[in-house]
Amino acid sequence: QSNLHEGYKLYPLRANDFERGYLDVLSVLTEVGAHTVDTWNSQYQFMKKHNDTYFTITITDEKTNRIAATGTILIEHKFVHKNGLVGHIEDIAVDSSHQGKKLGLRVIEALKYIGEMTGCYKVILDCAVKNIPFYEKCGFTPKESQMAWYI
Ligand code: ACO
Repeated sequence: QSNLHEGYKLYPLRANDFERGYLDVLSVLTEVGAHTVDTWNSQYQFMKKHNDTYFTITITDEKTNRIAATGTILIEHKFVHKNGLVGHIEDIAVDSSHQGKKLGLRVIEALKYIGEMTGCYKVILDCAVKNIPFYEKCGFTPKESQMAWYI
């Protein structure tokens, strides 16, 4: 795995990342909603309880102690491939002031490593067409197509 730029550090999601602006970073993706420390804590505790399924990592800017990038891999248990495991990469976000510094690439490398170490036979993700070149640089290849049903 390649090194991070000086001044950045990779961590698993931490209980006090709410205060490090974690949800602000996610807002580059979509509507995050109005959270309080309580709504943050209830979701954080759920994920912590299921820490063999949810692996969220962050890259912190050590100078400011703010989150610069994040990503999650969810481990799915299947019957096919003889009780195989599939890793689903979700919610990749790099704060706009930190984009283009290879932090996205580092997040993906770390999540691929977690997928490999947990025994997944593949790691997959859905993305916008404009992000295909980024994921190709991270070693992914286009496969099939995405479908969605919104409630
Ligand atoms: N088109 C073409 N190439 C790209 C793009 C792009 N949109 N984004 C990055 N790259 C290239 C870079 O030029 C770099 O190439 P190089 O190695 O030849 O120099 C390589 O990909 C790695 O780029 P990073 O610097 O690691 O990219 P960054 O840290 O900016 O992260 C990301 C990319 C995650 C797309 C970021 O810009 C971002 O957060 N965007 C907004 C949110 C988003 O779209 N997230 C992905 C949602 S999909 C999902 O979550 C599964």
